[in-house]
Amino acid sequence: MESVFGRFVEKSSRRISGVLLSDTATPLAAPVIVQQFNYYSKMKKYLAMLMLCAFASMNAGAQEVKKLPQPDLTLNVTLMDALKNRKTDREFSDKAISEQQLSQILWATCGINRPEKGLLTIPTAMNAQDVKAYVCTAKGVSLYDPKANTLTSVSKTDIRPMLAEGQNAMAKAPVFILLVSDQTKLRHNGQIYGAMDAGYASQDICLICAALGLKTVPRAMMNKEKVSKELGFPETMVLELNHPIGY
Ligand SMILES: Cc1cc2nc3c(=O)[nH]c(=O)nc-3n(C[C@H](O)[C@H](O)[C@H](O)COP(=O)(O)O)c2cc1C
Repeated sequence: MESVFGRFVEKSSRRISGVLLSDTATPLAAPVIVQQFNYYSKMKKYLAMLMLCAFASMNAGAQEVKKLPQPDLTLNVTLMDALKNRKTDREFSDKAISEQQLSQILWATCGINRPEKGLLTIPTAMNAQDVKAYVCTAKGVSLYDPKANTLTSVSKTDIRPMLAEGQNAMAKAPVFILLVSDQTKLRHNGQIYGAMDAGYASQDICLICAALGLKTVPRAMMNKEKVSKELGFPETMVLELNHPIGY
């Protein structure tokens, strides 16, 4: 659009310059033409700036990155207690969980526990690290980046009803973690290994939730078609499980 407008202004300017330089222009008309020329130049600048701002704000929305608090690795709960308390819950209130709790949960899901080698809290087939954790709330969907300990916004849509489909009451849970296997990371047996890798992440979510006194349930049920469409996933992004989490 800028270039169309630019061409229009250039054309007009050329026309104006042409009149300015022609012998037929009266001395009285010249200041008016110069004024018009200045007006078009200013308009062109303003329009370009306006479009730049609109483009920047559109991009900022898509790439919004939020730093998570450092996960507290000193949680005072034994593995035996967490295993003892692990169970499926299917009724949730809309009470929010804290960012600190979310950070703990994501670290357990697929965070980095050996930074020197970039290895994860979960094992993955051939160290493919194919499991991606998406955080889904009323505000939209964000992708967890384990290295940066950040959440990057990928959608402003509340997809919790799509995830809860079939068990609609669960959409009340303040957070869902969606586990997706990026099959491009797996060289062979992608379908099987992807499901297994997500299973480890899911078990870690069950255990950390038990340790934090939070409710959860691993769910295979969801409207995969709608979710994939909303998030613009190609076929290589396989939706494995989702976990509503809350109180
Ligand atoms: C792979 C997998 C998929 C599951 N999908 C669902 C589901 O879609 N909805 C649901 O309510 N529970 C689901 N569950 C939870 C099981 O129903 C639950 O673990 C089982 O009933 C045993 O209960 P417990 O977890 O309290 O031991 C799933 C569990 C697994 C491991």
